[in-house]
Amino acid sequence: MTSRRAFMTMSVAAAAAVTGTLLTGRTVSADDELEFPYNVAFTQKHQGHWEGKAGTHVPKVEITDTEIIVTTPHPMSEKHYIVRHTIVDSKGTPIGEHTFAPTDKTAVSKYPLPANSSGKKFYVTSFCNLHDLWIGKFKI
Ligand SMILES: [Fe+2]
Repeated sequence: MTSRRAFMTMSVAAAAAVTGTLLTGRTVSADDELEFPYNVAFTQKHQGHWEGKAGTHVPKVEITDTEIIVTTPHPMSEKHYIVRHTIVDSKGTPIGEHTFAPTDKTAVSKYPLPANSSGKKFYVTSFCNLHDLWIGKFKI
């Protein structure tokens, strides 16, 4: 059973992940009207009904001097593939997004490193056409 605190943490992360398309520039708090039940979005810690799928669905992030490289180590085929990556900052402002085709060989996307991003927290999402929305976070 998930504790209320863990649920709220996941809800905030999920809300922050979708604010890029729903509420651009708005800060989401735990008591915001945007709350999600368990099994809407998934993380390394909260794999929900997709328990065991985190290894191939949670996006990995590499930071270089000039860019953010997002990789989802997931097979790509016509029937099962990563559809999209999105990065938002801690206030939900979109930083970058990329839509994949099932014919892409890998789920790797690259984004310019935002100015003045050192020390700031970001959220990254990876959406699988069969296994839903997965969320990671990283700090530059
Ligand atoms: Fe998948």
